[in-house]
Amino acid sequence: MRKIKVRLGNNSYEIYIGSGILSKVGYWLKEKGFIGKIVIITNPIAKELHGDTLQEALIRENFDVVLLLVPDGEEQKSLETAARLYEELSNFGAERLTPILALGGGVIGDLAGFVAATYLRGVPLVQIPTTLLAQVDSSIGGKVAIDYNKLKNRIGAFYQPKLVVTDITTLQTLPAQEISDGLAETIKYAVIRDKQFFTYLEQNLDKIKSLDNVALEEVIFKSAKIKAEIVEKDEKDLGLRNILNYGHTVGHAIETASDFKVRHGQAVAIGMVTEGRISNMLGILSRSDLIRLRNLIKKADLPVEISNLNVNKVIQAIKHDKKIFKGKIRFILPKSIGSVFISDEVTLELIERVLVGRYEEA
Ligand SMILES: NC(=O)c1ccc[n+]([C@@H]2O[C@H](COP(=O)([O-])OP(=O)(O)OC[C@H]3O[C@@H](n4cnc5c(N)ncnc54)[C@H](O)[C@@H]3O)[C@@H](O)[C@H]2O)c1
Ligand SMILES: [Zn+2]
Repeated sequence: MRKIKVRLGNNSYEIYIGSGILSKVGYWLKEKGFIGKIVIITNPIAKELHGDTLQEALIRENFDVVLLLVPDGEEQKSLETAARLYEELSNFGAERLTPILALGGGVIGDLAGFVAATYLRGVPLVQIPTTLLAQVDSSIGGKVAIDYNKLKNRIGAFYQPKLVVTDITTLQTLPAQEISDGLAETIKYAVIRDKQFFTYLEQNLDKIKSLDNVALEEVIFKSAKIKAEIVEKDEKDLGLRNILNYGHTVGHAIETASDFKVRHGQAVAIGMVTEGRISNMLGILSRSDLIRLRNLIKKADLPVEISNLNVNKVIQAIKHDKKIFKGKIRFILPKSIGSVFISDEVTLELIERVLVGRYEEA
């Protein structure tokens, strides 16, 4: 098992990454001084696959366990579901020191995290992510949220967990599309921060896609470490954490323009290539790096171009989403593989040219 320490003063915590470690959660929580009541928040899919293992691990250490079920799906990140969970926590007699364990993907992590942050002004939170995206991204960094009025993550908080337990074996049942979604974020980390990791991904992507445990552990460890290091330097998203938005400016606009029919990972993949092309057009990212980027994204079974999407709608969404100053928009762009820069030089016209394919790679 590997450990990553996220250093945030009083809010510091560890991420444990390994195979078959769900069965140790009870022991670790006892070690951390928790006793008595404990709450698992999960959905029917994660419960069916891993609920018993987790519950047994907790009962073995004499915890008084209740499992609260939330239906599957993004629409559960709602005030209504949160309200129902507050009610159930209250009925169970959950107290200030009763931990909430979020067992599932990013939806459960964000929702249970939001409930943990607000119930009794905050109860201990433990993230137990079971999707690749949740393991490399959403379980780390303390952003918890629900959606409101169709606006994603509109109501939320920064609320760090006490522990993150990432059991790699949970990914064995994850559909290929979900693996690709997580890989989009992983490729993002490599591009913004770590050239060697990018090369590792190029060389090992087949193993990762076939869910080889050794390769998965390496990828999750490296990704989680990069995210943790960025979060340590900018917990509240006031500066450096911005670089995690690489691929996401265009990506979010594609999600919006498609009415969320294009999946997040796919949108970010197209966003990363588009933003790479913009950098190339500005004379920064080399053609060879751009080609490596595009090839790796393709190899991860992610799209690199928009098909059947109205470019105008994407442009409108960017305009709506972003501050425009003198006709230009701030972008996080790749400088070379392994590093990014902030550009204030990107015009809407340039974005449009890149999106409709009227560009030539320099
Ligand atoms: N807090 C953050 O920093 C942050 C970062 C990125 C994304 N997010 C949020 O994360 C959410 C997306 O997370 P996601 O991609 O994990 O989606 P998800 O939670 O909906 O999970 C995807 C699907 O996989 C299923 N699943 C979960 N574990 C499984 C397993 N082991 N085997 C088989 N199926 C399994 C889920 O039930 C679901 O159907 C979004 O709401 C997004 O806003 C948050
Ligand atoms: Zn993302």
